[in-house]
Amino acid sequence: MEYFVFDTIEEASKKAYAIMKANINEHSTLGLATGSSPVALYKEMIADHKAGNFSYKDITTFNLDEYVNIDKNHPESYYSFMHNNLFNHIDINEERIHIPAPYTNDDAKLAKIVKGYNDELEAASVDVQILGVGSNGHIAFNEPGTAFDSTVHIVNLKENTIKDNSRFFDFDMEKVPKRAMTMGIKNILQAKNIIFLAFGANKRDAVAKLLAGKEDVNYPCTSLINHPHVYVIVDKAADPTTK
Ligand code: GLP
Repeated sequence: MEYFVFDTIEEASKKAYAIMKANINEHSTLGLATGSSPVALYKEMIADHKAGNFSYKDITTFNLDEYVNIDKNHPESYYSFMHNNLFNHIDINEERIHIPAPYTNDDAKLAKIVKGYNDELEAASVDVQILGVGSNGHIAFNEPGTAFDSTVHIVNLKENTIKDNSRFFDFDMEKVPKRAMTMGIKNILQAKNIIFLAFGANKRDAVAKLLAGKEDVNYPCTSLINHPHVYVIVDKAADPTTK
């Protein structure tokens, strides 16, 4: 694991982009994340694309997760997030974009959607996975307690995750979806390289657990410790060694 601390999210995101570019070509497969953490990295990707340095025409993407039964075009769906923050600004082929699509509450249908996404992931090979972390140490929507060999599944979100995410839903916990579909920890660990981004003081605990180097099922982010190519990039606020 390589560990980098930066003063600002912008500097951190430039480093993240440099690592990403060093590990992909124009035919690679990217694992993408939502949340505020990767937004500045996505800006770097867009700027470099607009400068004519990189084409996404033949790039394939897989997103980590999506809320269950949200309207696909809801402004806070991860489908909308990815299009607004990245896909609408690069030359990616819509057919190469994969985002979990659990747009139903019907459990039988959800089971099929879960299996379909897992099969697609099994057939793919993710070169670089971008990862954020929840304040409780979750990765994607793998909440504390999730088995490290989990594959794609439906999850009931923990109360503090619903609370954290209520900022996107008028701070109204009632409006936040209570279930999500997520890549499992095993799927995430299959990526060749993982770029882990954590910014802000509320990520300090999770980063400290990761740096402690001991697997702890109550902190899903600690599943990364034995992966051979993990780049942990944080700002000072999230760095547990900064006073
Ligand atoms: C959500 C997402 C995670 C993300 C986390 C942190 O729970 N499912 O993939 O890592 O939020 O989000 P943020 O980067 O906004 O702190």
